[in-house]
Order: sequence, then structure tokens, then C-alpha cells
Amino acid sequence: MSIQQIGSSWLLHTQNTTYAFGLNSLGLLVHQYWGPRIASPSALPPAPESEGWASFNHPEHLLPEEYPAWAGMKFVEPCLKVTAHDQVRDTVLVFQDSQAEVDDLPHLVITLQDPVYALRVRLHYRVHAESDIIERWAELVNDSAAPIRLERAFSVQWHPPAGTAYRFSHLYGRWNDEFHLVRETLTPGVKVIESRRLTTSHHHNPWFALDGGDASETQGEVWFGALGWSGNWKLCAEDTGFASTRLSLGVNDFDFAWDLQPGETFTTPSAYAGYTQEGFGAASRCLHQLIRSRLIPHPRALHPVLYNSWEATLFDVDAPSQIRLAQLAAQMGVELFVMDDGWFKGRRDDRAGLGDWSPDPLKFPHGLNPLIQQVTALGMRFGLWVEPEMVNPDSDLYRAHPDWVLHFPTRQRRTGRNQLILNLARPDVQAHLNQMLDELLSQHDISFIKWDMNRAVSEPGWPDAPRDPREMWVRYTHGLYHILETLRSRHPQVTFQSCSGGGGRADLGVLRYADQIWVSDNTEAAARLRIQEGFSQLFPAQVMEAWVTDANRGQIPLSFRFHVSMCGSLGIGGNLTQWSPQERAEAAHWIAVYKDIRPIIQFGSQFRLRSPSQSPFSAVQYLSEDGAAGVLFAFRTHLPDPAALPPLRLQGLDPQALYAVEGVPEPHSGAYWMHTGLPLVLGNFESALLRITRLP
Ligand code: GLA
Repeated sequence: MSIQQIGSSWLLHTQNTTYAFGLNSLGLLVHQYWGPRIASPSALPPAPESEGWASFNHPEHLLPEEYPAWAGMKFVEPCLKVTAHDQVRDTVLVFQDSQAEVDDLPHLVITLQDPVYALRVRLHYRVHAESDIIERWAELVNDSAAPIRLERAFSVQWHPPAGTAYRFSHLYGRWNDEFHLVRETLTPGVKVIESRRLTTSHHHNPWFALDGGDASETQGEVWFGALGWSGNWKLCAEDTGFASTRLSLGVNDFDFAWDLQPGETFTTPSAYAGYTQEGFGAASRCLHQLIRSRLIPHPRALHPVLYNSWEATLFDVDAPSQIRLAQLAAQMGVELFVMDDGWFKGRRDDRAGLGDWSPDPLKFPHGLNPLIQQVTALGMRFGLWVEPEMVNPDSDLYRAHPDWVLHFPTRQRRTGRNQLILNLARPDVQAHLNQMLDELLSQHDISFIKWDMNRAVSEPGWPDAPRDPREMWVRYTHGLYHILETLRSRHPQVTFQSCSGGGGRADLGVLRYADQIWVSDNTEAAARLRIQEGFSQLFPAQVMEAWVTDANRGQIPLSFRFHVSMCGSLGIGGNLTQWSPQERAEAAHWIAVYKDIRPIIQFGSQFRLRSPSQSPFSAVQYLSEDGAAGVLFAFRTHLPDPAALPPLRLQGLDPQALYAVEGVPEPHSGAYWMHTGLPLVLGNFESALLRITRLP
């Protein structure tokens, strides 16, 4: 039984964990437990009570409430901050009831209510038992006759056990340099990471892991999670200074407002979190499993090997140049040919064209279909790049609808990469994009869309907004999801890739619509090793699109560059017309190898054996779903000689079973490979791809 009620406590059991909360003697909904699965109810600690009193430190301040609202003498971060119609800013949430929701997963709803202002809070808990993850979100319902202003409406507050000084792991970066992993000890106060950029951002990611400072890749308690949201978000990791830590996460309250009208419901995005005793690697695998089994639209579809024309032709695309690339790609075994930026009306460079999504009549006088037919005749599917949220001032769309972009009437409209942002909060903009993209997909045989978004926001105004214009922040993301959802329902066979100048929109929200993420515009193989390591903290290899390009061509061996990209969903992005016949033959070899091993990489489990950010000798291993086959990639970047590489200790094997590792004459037990390890000899910028086979 995944959801159990004992007295006035609720226990949510996953395969290996229990998350529990309940009512204390004051009737407050407080957190009770989050850790290894509880076998007997007697192991459940009591619901925390307010004890003692001091005029500066009222104990209610420290109660680990499941969804604290700002009220009374509570100075820690709340989930909810509200102003009522009479300017009262003190929200008292009283337990009403609990209900099981009809769902394909165990799903509990706890209802709290402010009795004076008739604000109802429905806290949703869904149990993802196999991935050891709890999903939570909140619905805020105005049952009164007057509007209620929401000033903060987070999704969740998580409470790891009190009494530990936690280490907080998170990801930071910038364009072309995303997903740096940092681990830092929390000290009293609030550590905030957030996005105010309209998208998830390259700078921080709404992912976290907390541990007591002693967890490793393979061992130790870790509490971890992520927010499913692609707009502004905020994460507050708070050490209260009273030996307790809490982590609040949700839509950013910076410049946020939402006037909840009578009868209206505001639904927060979902937050996901889990617990493991087996270190950061296991924490990642839980999130990987969740993403693969519950979020992405086509979980069991193997991604084809793709070719993308961007780095070869930039904006200079036309049918002959694309066909030449397509022919070379097809000869190498590529299965999907993607034409990137530059194909639409007026697009010669980045100064014009965005908004006018019809084929450029000079480049494609007969439209795209002749090219698509040739690509399909070569045995490949066809994909296309779009950037629907953007408009160049030099475009027919902007000339017709200058009011459709985000702007303030008295301020200059600042461009980024010469483009302005269409206000996707507007229903007319949503309808236009839906129709335009639906036509594009209906009139062409397109199986893949790379959906890009290439600037951060400025002047986030909506002058003719029907309500508070600050609702734009949330409505924009809802608009984006609505368009993606509509297109997906009309064209379910199409795969979407989320790109925002690389990894600027990488989150669990967009993965409900997109099967893939373009991780970074940085395709330099050694840099990618580090970026991919950060990305893998929460995302599985299946969603990680990785291209072999011309970056470091001639300096880093092609095999090394292929091996790096084969750790995800393989793509090619180099200018094939410049590749020698030998390079293309070698590429064909690696593509064939990849096709053979990709079920292991895309559907299997991932183990980070050695970190590329910690050492120039790194390795990552994948194991098939049934555990019978594996692949090991090892990389040496620059390590001064003489260097003795330590043996690679494999992970995830059955200790008793016998395994053969490619290149090693003798098979050994799983225990041997995991404890004694595999000796490897690699020179600088050499790599290895070795298959692992369980013997009968
Ligand atoms: C962004 C993407 C690139 C490419 C260009 C095209 O930078 O990340 O891969 O599509 O836009 O303009």
C-alpha cells in the first residue's frame, strides 16, 4: 500500500522510502519523516509540536509545516503569501479533509482552508513508487466573493531531517558553459538560486541535492529533487539557525502577482523529490527513471542518429547545400536530417525573418517539400528548426503586430540577437503560433522540431493586459505549454527538442512535451564531458542530444569526439563536405556501433564512475534494463606523464554473476569488476568504448 493513514498521519511509501506528515495537537499539517521505508508504524516519529515560547522566537516559527503560509510570528520562508481584499496579509490554513484522487498513481489530496477568507489550498501528493519520488503541487482556490492577491505561490517546502548541517548541491553556468556542479555547506540564512529571465536559464537549474557532507556517488543519504517549470523559478535553501533545514521551491515571486478571482484556481507546477541511501549516482538514476517513465512523451522510442546543418551552413541554407549534406549524412548511416536556422522568409543573417515561418522564396522557390522528398528518398526522416517565440523587428509579423511583443510603452524595446519576444501570455499570439506551426507540420513530412529560444527577457510589459500585467510571467509559460500540447495532440508522431541557445530551457516541465534537450552550444568534446556530467545529475542520456562537430577537429581524435557524443543521443553537426573520406568512413563505423548499443545507453541505467570535473581521467558506464549488457566509456584528457591510471571499478553489476569485458581475455565476477576493477591504458586525448556482457 503506497498511501497509508495512521491516526492523523499520512505515510507515502515508495519502493525504498517513506515520506510522512500529519496533524499536530494544534491541527497544523507538519512534516514527520522522510527516509528509509518504515516497516512498522511504531517507527514513525510523532508530529512536531510547538514547544516553549519567547517573544522574539515564537516556536511556530520553526514548525516544519508542509505548506507554510505567511502569518503570525513566522519569519522563515513561506510557500504562500497573500493579500486579501481588505488588505489583511495573514493567512491561517486549517485542515479540512484528505481524499484519494482517481489517478493511475497513488494520489492524495489534503485540503486546508483559511476560514475567514475562504481561500482553499489543495495539496497534491503523488507517489512514484518505482523511482522513489514524491510529486507535489498545490491548487489555490478562491471560494470567496472577493479577489485574493497571490504574492508568492510556491509548489512545495521540503524538510530533510533536522539536526544535520547540510551540504547543498546545485548547478550553475552561463551560455556555452552550462551545468557546473557545485556542492557547498549551508550556513544559517537562506541560499537562493533562481531565474528571472523568463526561461529556466543557463545560469541555474531548479534541481537540488542535500546531503550531510559525506555522501559520494555510491554511498550516503541524499535528498534530491527538481521543479517542473520552464519560466521564472526560485529555490530557497534555508538553514534556520535552529538546527533545521528546509527547501522551498516554486514559481519565482520576484515581480510576480496573481489576482485570484472568485471561483478561480491557481495551480502551481509540480515539484519532485526523493531520498536514497546510495549516494548521488542513485539519486540521479531515480530522476532519470521518473523522466523516462512518467514525463517524456515517447519513452520507448529510440532516438535516431541525427545530422544538424547549423554548424556547416549557418544561415546560408538552400536546397543544393542541404541535399549535399544529406547525401553524405545518409552514406554514414544518419537516420534524421535536421535543417537548422536560415530556411524561412527573409532570413540571411540574424537581423531579419523571425516571425515569418514560410520557406524563403529565393532559397526554396518550390517550398520545402522537394528537399524533404529527397531526404526521405535517401532513407532519412526530416526535421526542422524553429524559434516561434521570437520576432525580428524586420519581419512581416512584427510590422503587422508591433503590440504582440513584450514591451513597456515609454521604454525602448531592447533587442537581444536583434530579436524581440512575442508575448505568449496573449491568447491571440498563442492562436497565431498554433495555427502557423500546425500548418507547417500538416503541409510537410516533418518528424522532428528543434524549438529554440535565443534571448533573455527585457521590458517584460504587457500594456493592454486584461489583469495585472505581472501575471505575464506565469501565463507566458502556460502559453508555451499550451502550444506544445496542442501541436503534440495534433501531430503525436513529431519529436520536439527543447533548445534555448543550448541548455537554457532544460527542466522537468518542458520534458512533458519535448523528448530531447539540446544541452549546450558548446560542442567541444572536452568541455562537453564536464557539461554532460552536470546535465546527468538530473537528466538521463536518452534526452541528451549530443553532436560530433568540427570543434577541435584535427586536435582531438574523431573517436574521442564520437565517444563523448555516444554517451547521449548521438548526432552529427560538422561540415561533412570538409570531412575526408577516411573521416566519413570512421564516422560510419561509430554510427553503426552506436546503433548497436543505443538501447543500453538510451534505456539503461547510468553510472558515473569517475568525474571529468574532478580528474582528467573520467568514465561513465551504462547497463541495460535487464542487466545483461553494458557499455563503458573512458576518457583521458590532458594528464602529464608519467601517469598510472587507477583501475576503473564498475558499478551496478550482480556480484555473483560472471561478466566479460571487451579486450580482457578472462571473464570475472561482478564482485571482481566492482571491487578490483578494470586496468586501462590511455594516452592524452584517448578514449575507450568497451562492452560488458553478462555470461550465462
Ligand atoms: C541557437 C542554437 C543553435 C542554433 C542557432 C541557430 O544558438 O542553440 O544550435 O540552432 O540558435 O540560430
